[in-house]
Amino acid sequence: MTRIKALIEARHRLLGCNLSVAYEKPLNIVRGSMQYLYDDEGRRYLDAYNNVAHVGHCHPKVVAAGQKQMEQLNTNTRYLSDLILEYAEKLTGTLPDPLNVCFFVNSGSEANELALRLARAHTKARDLIVLEHAYHGNTTTLIDISPYKHDGPGGEGAPSWVHKAPLPATEEDAQHVASIAERLRFSLCGFIAESMPSVAGQIIFPDGYLTRVYEAVRAAGGVCIADEVQTGYGRIGTHFWAFEKYGVVPDIVVLGKPIGNGHPIGAVITTRAIADSFANGMEFFSTFGGNNVSCAIGLKVLEVVHEEKLQAHALTVGERLLTGLRALQQRHEIMSDVRGSGLFIGVELVRDGEPAGVDAARVVNQMRERGILFGTDGPHHNVLKIRPPMPFSGENAEEMLAALDSVFEEIPGRG
Ligand SMILES: Cc1ncc(COP(=O)(O)O)c(C=O)c1O
Repeated sequence: MTRIKALIEARHRLLGCNLSVAYEKPLNIVRGSMQYLYDDEGRRYLDAYNNVAHVGHCHPKVVAAGQKQMEQLNTNTRYLSDLILEYAEKLTGTLPDPLNVCFFVNSGSEANELALRLARAHTKARDLIVLEHAYHGNTTTLIDISPYKHDGPGGEGAPSWVHKAPLPATEEDAQHVASIAERLRFSLCGFIAESMPSVAGQIIFPDGYLTRVYEAVRAAGGVCIADEVQTGYGRIGTHFWAFEKYGVVPDIVVLGKPIGNGHPIGAVITTRAIADSFANGMEFFSTFGGNNVSCAIGLKVLEVVHEEKLQAHALTVGERLLTGLRALQQRHEIMSDVRGSGLFIGVELVRDGEPAGVDAARVVNQMRERGILFGTDGPHHNVLKIRPPMPFSGENAEEMLAALDSVFEEIPGRG
């Protein structure tokens, strides 16, 4: 039995069966360095997909910061510490006023859970507006607010307090949210959305959409929650946070994945008024949230993003990728749409007017054979998702475009 087969067998025996494995030929990745991953035979893969390793897999400065703090102390928020304050100060420094108060947890899911608690405490209401195909996390409540899950295989639909609005195609589609908000005037807790819906297929909102949505939600007494778990920290190139692209300021911002560069950190940042509504006498405590090691790592990740000017880099490399992808689009009809900002890019595949999920899977597997790692997303799994670690370079972009061109040449029945 090959090593890969043995690992798959052991996985089935020892782990829950609803874990998925990427690629037809699964990879046993044993090492990572910046934008590269290495398998057990020493083959190098260009990672065009993992947004968690934001400043690069095993970035040496982040690793050193974690190691150093681990040798010194790792305890919880019930002790005073400079580190958590420095981290909170630097983090809130990246956000507009009045987003000044931080809570630290251990994952994007925990952060969204906490965001909901904050919103409910502030509004004393429960109904929530979400967007179709959205994903916000893996807990019971978050499955309830994630149509991507509760409307998918094994899902049981939305509970009565969750109200779904369609993904917008034009600014006018804000009307869908506005009419739900109006109907829920006395029971609306808020609206939650990724600032660029990623799980729904790397979507950018039409200009003016979010402004109108936020106005309508606030007019009905709700708060606006921006899930920046995938889109934050300069990834979109033009702005540090994706909501900034639309000129809005949320009431609650949810952070996860990239902020710990692989170390489990989640954070919620909100206004003093909302944080005070939440301080109702019940202690908020997370055993690991805001621990010294997490803060040392989180702080270093943020420093590296600034020091290495990764936002500007994402803009330059992203433009090069988008231009190259649009050139490929002229030659490969299946590429029905190329969209994105910075290093947050989607390529939608459509064949004969239908979402080409099978082709997308084929492309991803063939790119893997060529040593480049992609993923897919969107309701029909037909959107190639390009969202690499931020050190992804211009040369990497050229390499990826050339490989993609040859893969599209080879897919059967192309046209
Ligand atoms: C937009 C979004 N929000 C929240 C989460 C949940 O984060 P975690 O898996 O860290 O709990 C995810 C994870 O994929 C996500 O994509």
